Amino acid sequence: MADPIGDYIAGLFAREDDVLLALREEADRHGLPPISISPDEGRLLQVLLAAVGARRVLEVGTLGGYSAIWMARALPDDGFLVTIELDPGHASFARRFIARARLDAKVDIRVGRALDVLASLDGEQFDAMFIDADKEPLSTYLEWGLRLVRRGGLIVADNALWGGKVLDERIEDDATRAIRAFNVRLAADPRLVSIVVPTHDGVAVAVVR
Ligand code: SAH
Ligand code: DHB
Ligand code: MG
Repeated sequence: MADPIGDYIAGLFAREDDVLLALREEADRHGLPPISISPDEGRLLQVLLAAVGARRVLEVGTLGGYSAIWMARALPDDGFLVTIELDPGHASFARRFIARARLDAKVDIRVGRALDVLASLDGEQFDAMFIDADKEPLSTYLEWGLRLVRRGGLIVADNALWGGKVLDERIEDDATRAIRAFNVRLAADPRLVSIVVPTHDGVAVAVVR
């Protein structure tokens, strides 16, 4: 769909370099699902990470490493990103492109189920968490976010609008229900200051008070 306003914003603020372009092309050929964040979301993540002075970032759902590269590029020299991925094939694809972006020293891919890896991180503190994996466990991912993210840090989640399904009352599958409940919780939880930003599929942004 033509989106001249979106193109104007992305053209000015969210240009992809050769690594990100090559990643998306090769991901298509490789059969990875085309569900990475968009360039404007990548840039929004960079702005948010800069705003909270993020040094330690946690991602749930690596896929091909596209969002990981955007985020790692916003971190200072001593910053790092831990990113969790269930599928070893996705993880090895991501590892290759993260190396190509010369970010391998900053990005640590943990292969496993998010719920298991999150439990293994208990006691650590992050400045931001980006949630972008399966939707059914969103409320548990949020609980982990509240435990692992410092005060003043960020909890961000992709797909907050789920192609519009969150507002279609006829739709009642588990993923849609989970995203709806997540948004309701984010809007109401007094420990959070939150909003959904209407990017292509919606990004929920919450600051931990
Ligand atoms: N953040 C990525 C896109 C992630 S797509 C980007 O924007 O580039 C969602 C990813 O989450 C997929 O790679 C999928 O394999 C992974 N995933 C799904 N369920 C998971 C789980 N329970 N634990 C860890 N990763 C999971
Ligand atoms: C889908 C898209 C996503 O961005 C995601 O994180 C998980 C699933 C999807 O469209 O199925
Ligand atoms: Mg997503």
